Amino acid sequence: MIWDCLPLGFKVVRVLFKPFQNEICMKLTFLQRDGEGRLAAPPLSLAPMVGLSHSALRSLIADLGGCGLFYTEMLAARRLPHENPAVSSYLHTTPCERPLIYQLFIADVKYVAPALDKIHRLGGDGVDINLGCPAPSVRRGGAGAALAEDWDRVRDIVSSARRHTDLTLSAKIRVGHVGKEAHLLDFCKMLEAEGVDLLAVHARYHGEKFCRKPRWQLLAPICEQLDIPIFANGGIFSVDDARRCLELSGAAGLMLGRGAVERPWLFNEIAREVYGLDLPVAESRPVEIYFRFVQKMVEIFAPERQLGRIKEFTHYIAKNHQFGHHLASAVQKSHTVEEAVQAAEDFYGISRDI
Ligand SMILES: Cc1cc2nc3c(=O)[nH]c(=O)nc-3n(C[C@H](O)[C@H](O)[C@H](O)COP(=O)(O)O)c2cc1C
Repeated sequence: MIWDCLPLGFKVVRVLFKPFQNEICMKLTFLQRDGEGRLAAPPLSLAPMVGLSHSALRSLIADLGGCGLFYTEMLAARRLPHENPAVSSYLHTTPCERPLIYQLFIADVKYVAPALDKIHRLGGDGVDINLGCPAPSVRRGGAGAALAEDWDRVRDIVSSARRHTDLTLSAKIRVGHVGKEAHLLDFCKMLEAEGVDLLAVHARYHGEKFCRKPRWQLLAPICEQLDIPIFANGGIFSVDDARRCLELSGAAGLMLGRGAVERPWLFNEIAREVYGLDLPVAESRPVEIYFRFVQKMVEIFAPERQLGRIKEFTHYIAKNHQFGHHLASAVQKSHTVEEAVQAAEDFYGISRDI
């Protein structure tokens, strides 16, 4: 590892990883303002995902090792200041889920200061502005992908956030529209100029479905021309995908979404096999992971918050099994957590004390 500090008012830490098994030399640049920030090591992050990137999944992944950076699911900047962390299922965290970036969907600059004040009080390590979400409810409110279409509003929001915090400022975008690659590059440069420290880029055009093959190669010019670290996102479900994505994009890091829910041990595999980290091999039997998840869910969340999240997680973990749709549909039909656990016990042919 090579540490290289530059006098820019904040420390810039450069880390070079030399993987054992191939010639890719990964570079991560992570900003540590006043030396207080945390390093994303390895440069692998859990994507923000509504209903999935909550404390139970984050802490499960943290236990398995290999994830260097966590995002929350997206939170409404307008409502965040009024959420009570003592009872909110969105704000619950445990100390192992670090560094933790809070993702905001936001449409108006007036919400920046109150939302960031709250993230400071919560002890967050960073804040992310959602500039890619295509969900109609988010777009209608002028946030997510709709915000990305209004550069003046993006500038206002990002520069205001920059003035208001020394935490890592991240933005998450998609690669924009077909044939508008130059526009995409200008957009990324504008974000960098306004003070974004870290950019997560989902390698699919706006409007493309998640089943579409990701376009990792579109990230290459962004990674070449920007100085901030770019985390490539989209369609990483295996160690081979991770390698291929890094080769095609030249990204400083990777962000995993659905692949991390299907296989929460995937970070551990990529950290060891691509980044050469000396980690103990993680548990990778889906049955064990499933019941660990349910256990965390029951410990962390109020009863009325558990069942929906268990169903959501089951949908993904079931993909590890040839007949996983039986597990997913039996849990989906359950009316209580007890019924869901019974359905999973029946599927796996075991009994667990939860
Ligand atoms: C259920 C679900 C919820 C998501 N919620 C968010 C979100 O809150 N914020 C966001 O920026 N992206 C969200 N996304 C997009 C993911 O962060 C990610 O960009 C996308 O799933 C592609 O990555 P993947 O192929 O690794 O899953 C969501 C995706 C899924 C499947």
